[in-house]
Amino acid sequence: MTIILDGKKTAQKIISDISEEVFKLDVKPKLAVIIVGDNPASQIYVKNKEKTAKKIGFDSLIIPFSINTSNDELLKEIDKLNNDKSVNAVLVQLPLPNTLYKQKIIEAIAPEKDVDGFTPYNFGQLVLGYKPYAIPCTPKGIIRLLDEYNIEIEGKVAVVLGRSNIVGKPLSALLRQNNATVINLHSKTSEKNILAFSKQADILVAAIGQPNYVTSEFVKDGAIVIDVGINRVNDKIKGDVDFDNVSKLTSYITPVPGGVGPMTIAMLMENTLELYKLQHK
Ligand code: GUN
Repeated sequence: MTIILDGKKTAQKIISDISEEVFKLDVKPKLAVIIVGDNPASQIYVKNKEKTAKKIGFDSLIIPFSINTSNDELLKEIDKLNNDKSVNAVLVQLPLPNTLYKQKIIEAIAPEKDVDGFTPYNFGQLVLGYKPYAIPCTPKGIIRLLDEYNIEIEGKVAVVLGRSNIVGKPLSALLRQNNATVINLHSKTSEKNILAFSKQADILVAAIGQPNYVTSEFVKDGAIVIDVGINRVNDKIKGDVDFDNVSKLTSYITPVPGGVGPMTIAMLMENTLELYKLQHK
């Protein structure tokens, strides 16, 4: 029988602990979120972030920009937030429209306020094995969830499907730091190798954005499977993993929804509080 890694319950516990801490603070931590355009998935994510931030007792600032906004307008806003002492954490919701220069925009965030850990300073610190101001929320949430269930990472073969800057790359770095042997597969890996390497995984992470991509063929008996996918199929949310069949083989598996998603939001709140503390030292 597989054990379901309950991200919802774990996230609630983390959020309730943060709430208690925030309740005692005179000045509340403030999270600013920039969202450009009207991507429906991004709108929902940002609303969820705001709802949780408010529930915790944070000040939450959502700054919407039209899809036609310019790089300069965004850079100006980021500069303003960097210099606003009342703002502790800045997040630019991704993806950005292709007309914008994503790299320059992310780079403009002050590393001390970069709650996603996406700036070159924080990302570099992470990959080098030094302490960043913040660790990217989804990878951090995955490691925390494994830890919550006392799942040892050291010595395991971890296979990460996907090499995005948001999940695949930082998660590979974090798993490596936790002494796993990490194999990072991606869209240019041959199908034959994807199957062969996945099948060797003690920990298999799917972060590719294709519903039900990982079938039982990919999975070794007793593997731990982490599903990062959030795919909308006929108005339902589906993961990257064929849960019904794969869960017959696994020792642990995350559900979608209720697995990695809530952990990402909990880590965003934790990172916001950590940046606040750093700035109030
Ligand atoms: N879009 C999807 N996930 C994320 C995330 O963790 N941070 C940001 N900024 N955008 C995202």
